[in-house]
Amino acid sequence: MTIPRVPMEKAQALSPGQRQSLEHFYGALDTRDVALVDQALTSDWEDIPLAPGQAIGPEGIKPIFRMLISAFPDLSTEISEVLAEAGRAAARVIVTCTHRGDLFGVPASGKFVRFALHEFHEFEGDRLRRTYHLVDLFGLFTQIGAWPRPQRATGRMLALQIEGYSDQPRAKLIEIPERSPGAGEVRVRVTAAALNPLDVKLTQGHMREWFPLTFPYVPGTDFAGIVDEVGENVDSFRNGDAVYGRAEPTSGGALAEFVTLPAELIARRPSGLDAAAAACLPTPAGVAYQALFEVLKRPLSAPLLILGTGAVARAACQLARGSGEVTVCGHGAGRLTSLGARVIDSSSPELTAIAANSAFVFDTAGGDLQAKVVAMLRPGAHVAAIVTPVSEAVAKARGIKADYVVLATKQATLHRLAKLAANSELSVEIAGSFTLEQAPTSFGAFVAGTLPGKHVMQGDCK
Ligand SMILES: NC(=O)c1ccc[n+]([C@@H]2O[C@H](COP(=O)([O-])OP(=O)(O)OC[C@H]3O[C@@H](n4cnc5c(N)ncnc54)[C@H](OP(=O)(O)O)[C@@H]3O)[C@@H](O)[C@H]2O)c1
Repeated sequence: MTIPRVPMEKAQALSPGQRQSLEHFYGALDTRDVALVDQALTSDWEDIPLAPGQAIGPEGIKPIFRMLISAFPDLSTEISEVLAEAGRAAARVIVTCTHRGDLFGVPASGKFVRFALHEFHEFEGDRLRRTYHLVDLFGLFTQIGAWPRPQRATGRMLALQIEGYSDQPRAKLIEIPERSPGAGEVRVRVTAAALNPLDVKLTQGHMREWFPLTFPYVPGTDFAGIVDEVGENVDSFRNGDAVYGRAEPTSGGALAEFVTLPAELIARRPSGLDAAAAACLPTPAGVAYQALFEVLKRPLSAPLLILGTGAVARAACQLARGSGEVTVCGHGAGRLTSLGARVIDSSSPELTAIAANSAFVFDTAGGDLQAKVVAMLRPGAHVAAIVTPVSEAVAKARGIKADYVVLATKQATLHRLAKLAANSELSVEIAGSFTLEQAPTSFGAFVAGTLPGKHVMQGDCK
């Protein structure tokens, strides 16, 4: 992360201050310290041509540099060539980096790339006053193997949309207006959005008492993306930040090119956590965290019984790790064997003894399995259920404590989950992915129950 040097022998015509301005300008990328451009550019520096929405001066280039740093966390530059005469310099700069984050809507490819910037600079005193730039984007995107989507008419975006409640809601991909963020809100360019059973229940109307929808409705709560615009009173995020989060179920909006939501419902996505994996966390891992640590408050040495084998159970197994034995029970328990928990099928004869020995139960299955296990619990046991509540009468008769948990997204939890996932302490399993263009078909299949497991919409994957 050193500042690149201007080759002295090629820049005799420049003053030491002018050479330093060039070094600080490119060094802002190498050092990840975008404030270095303040020492390189005049306040009215012109970057020709300006990127869409780019302001003149140092403030205009900072979000672009941040976006590049987020897309290429290991970026380094080399000033390989300089042609200089009094007050002017042409530079060829070689950039080498790995594509680890969203770049103009193209999701991380993991590809190592090398491309050139060719820039013509004019100085005013020691600082850069004007830059004509030519970046080899053709070479860059050829190496990445994907291309940014064509720009839509200003202020319009593609979104999946549903017209009303239905057992088999028909989702259409249409162009709708982008929504600008209001006070306290951010707009995020979505690079990944994960489907959840909740999306189905919401659009079928099964949750209308909890979460009444207003139609037309854009489904999708869980996403990862890049901050595209911040509203008033938002200090904690800036354009270009890699984030992930969860929209309120009544608002939805994640199965789209952009989602606008309160800033408190997103958190930064660390570079060690890719967008698709991050998008799989907010609802499943969020509710698991809430049930385990805020409702059950189980000492980590106590045995825990988890019912169900989906994404929530998977997250719970990993979050609950401690000295106490964790057992997962369900038809698909085999999928979770690698997570360190004991796994048993719901028909296993062992279930009786395990349930009787479990003071804490996290029920992500509901239905018959819930009824069967509740009948086996000893008095004093505590059940946190997320699908169907244990009836008060049953809980009273059995002498158990039963809570129904509805996820309330907290930024602090998003921060913790992201950290755990980036440290490989919390993993997700992705069964399949689809593009926004394929979203109507994929959403239809998910609703019809023919797409089991976790499915993720990924930015331009073509
Ligand atoms: N109250 C709340 O705030 C809240 C929050 C989140 C979720 N929930 C609810 O909790 C329930 C579980 O959610 P979830 O996200 O864990 O659901 P999920 O991942 O879709 O899993 C649900 C079930 O689908 C089957 N399944 C999962 N992955 C599979 C795969 N790869 N291949 C084949 N089958 C697979 C499993 O059934 P088998 O065990 O039968 O194989 C699993 O128990 C849902 O009803 C959801 O709506 C509630």
